[in-house]
Amino acid sequence: MRIINVVGARPNLIKIAPLMRAYAERDGIEPLLVHTGQHYDDNMSDLFFRQLGIPEPDLNLGVGSGSHAVQTAEIIRTFEPVALEFEPDAVLVVGDVNSTIACGLVAAKLGVSLVHVEAGLRSFDRTMPEEINRVLTDAISDLLFCTEQSGVDNLRREGVAEEKIHLVGNLMIDTLLRNKARADASTVLTELGLSPSEYAVLTLHRPSNVDDPETLRRILEAVEVIQQDLPLIFPAHPRTRARLAEFGLMDRVGALENFRVLEPLGYLDFLKLLASARLVLTDSGGIQEETTILSVPCLTLRENTERPITVEMGGNQIVGNDPGRILAAYRGIVSGEAGSGGTPPLWDGHAARRIVEVLERAL
Ligand code: UD1
Ligand code: UDP
Repeated sequence: MRIINVVGARPNLIKIAPLMRAYAERDGIEPLLVHTGQHYDDNMSDLFFRQLGIPEPDLNLGVGSGSHAVQTAEIIRTFEPVALEFEPDAVLVVGDVNSTIACGLVAAKLGVSLVHVEAGLRSFDRTMPEEINRVLTDAISDLLFCTEQSGVDNLRREGVAEEKIHLVGNLMIDTLLRNKARADASTVLTELGLSPSEYAVLTLHRPSNVDDPETLRRILEAVEVIQQDLPLIFPAHPRTRARLAEFGLMDRVGALENFRVLEPLGYLDFLKLLASARLVLTDSGGIQEETTILSVPCLTLRENTERPITVEMGGNQIVGNDPGRILAAYRGIVSGEAGSGGTPPLWDGHAARRIVEVLERAL
């Protein structure tokens, strides 16, 4: 059984690593790995292959950056001949990025079984490009693997046949649990002169937060206050770094004594930084999940989340991007009022094994 597995962006790499390992432990599946090249900087792509032991991709489509239409179209155009040449029994896509929907569409149109991992998540916010990718990918998938019960409920409500839906846990957490001890050995705290629990971490990359100068300025108002209290470490996504420069905000940011803008970090250093933080402020999907398992309080700088389990477990608060609201929630955490997470059902490090077992039965 030949399966083409697709990766494109940083979080896809973290999810595919345990699956590639699980395939290698069984006989029945011939996995191919295709990188679309949506992310291409060493610290957004190759570094994760090296650190997580992901096999070299069989092919890199090299699509790079572009508008949504250009990037999606380029992936569709370059992936179709690959799918035709390799004649896979299935194409497996993860997450909700442009590479996910583009390769999913190619598979579905060629009549190849489409498998979506991380299916059913819904923010119910169609202004978010990922929500469109999620809804469309799920609508054309033949097998849908969910990380949390809300995903199963959403798919049922949308009329997806029961036998296609499988609640299996979370590949991102498989990777976290497997690498936690390695990350503990990272020297990143010493290198940055930080002590455990005496700093906060910020990540930002959603277009709704960083592409509008007014919104980005408002978030920086909260950042300015928090960094007076606690060192704030900010491994900046390339989109965000570009916007800070474009909006002339680099000087303002550079003048903040306790705010450290870094390049994106490798997985092990970043996991160490998360695990030891007093709190995390983020608009990332994956980081809401990782902080939940690590029991580190998380403030999500968005108006909604497609991962409600992280809120239900008590560690994640949805606070939007208004500085007053961010700071009120921040003060709640430092005064010990907030919850700190826990372990959602099946987030036990064995999602990849469950997925492979279903694939062997179903395909
Ligand atoms: C993409 C995903 C988003 C995901 C995020 C993870 C879509 C629609 N968005 O957003 O869901 O949460 O990845 O990080 O698929 N850039 C570089 N180097 C790189 C990659 C990007 O400099 O290696 C810069 C380019 O200027 C590019 C911009 O970042 O235009 C945005 O990259 P893109 O892949 O389009 O979207 P992300 O914001 O990374
Ligand atoms: N991450 C990382 N280095 C960083 C920032 C994030 O390794 O500097 C990891 C993080 O631990 C998580 C994943 O990247 O596993 C999240 O990716 P991102 O926030 O880019 O995307 P999203 O999850 O929002 O789609």
